[in-house]
Amino acid sequence: MTAIRLEALSFQYNKRKKILSDVNMAVEKGEIVGIIGESGAGKTTLLRLMNGSYFHEYERNIKGRIFIDDQHMAKEEDFFQKIGTIYQDPDNQIIFSNVTDELAFGMENMCVSPEVMKRKVDEVLKMLAIEHLRDRNPNTLSGGEKQLVTVAAILCLDIDIIILDECMAQVDTKGKALIAEAIQRMKAHCKTVVMVEHDYENLSLCDCIYKIADGKLQAIAREDLK
Ligand SMILES: Nc1ncnc2c1ncn2[C@@H]1O[C@H](COP(=O)(O)OP(=O)(O)OP(=O)(O)O)[C@@H](O)[C@H]1O
Ligand SMILES: [Mg+2]
Repeated sequence: MTAIRLEALSFQYNKRKKILSDVNMAVEKGEIVGIIGESGAGKTTLLRLMNGSYFHEYERNIKGRIFIDDQHMAKEEDFFQKIGTIYQDPDNQIIFSNVTDELAFGMENMCVSPEVMKRKVDEVLKMLAIEHLRDRNPNTLSGGEKQLVTVAAILCLDIDIIILDECMAQVDTKGKALIAEAIQRMKAHCKTVVMVEHDYENLSLCDCIYKIADGKLQAIAREDLK
């Protein structure tokens, strides 16, 4: 199954400049895809189109079609619970003073029963190999660990597509290794990961890499990254 498919996607915030022009892309389920491009190239814009967060405000500026799990995203509600997105700053994304509560929060909102919730938390902590963080206060975690908790909260909602927008930018080498391991573990569980990165070194685990330049998205060979 194709997790994300973009068909002739074009976008502009205003009349002055087209940010994305006729972008075509297919991400298969279970793939890890990297997206690179210079600052201001349109990486964050592209992923906000993919995850539906621009649909409401910019519907009229979006040309082309977006498919998630082979379903055409024709209205804002179609994007609900399809994709989880992690941004650069882990501190903006964590609310609770305990990792388990943080993971339970989203499920409580979805009226998941306490038994299912407990099972899901156990399963996801195991999937990401972060069982030891279960009772920690997120404020005391490293940047990389915080990012993993945010990823875990998304996985607890049974969301299978994760977008990471430069989520390694504010973490140290050890944190990057933790996140890289978590990404590989997600792949092993058939999750789909799209990672936007400035730093080419963080893309070694990607199955394929795309570059955005002048509004165009192009697949590039790893050898051409240097
Ligand atoms: N809400 C907005 N309104 C108008 N222009 C915007 C808006 N958000 C972004 N832009 C412009 O769109 C272009 C692409 O921005 P975007 O944030 O997608 O780039 P990026 O590739 O993610 O850059 P970076 O690597 O710095 O995060 C930039 O020129 C930016 O100034
Ligand atoms: Mg960006």
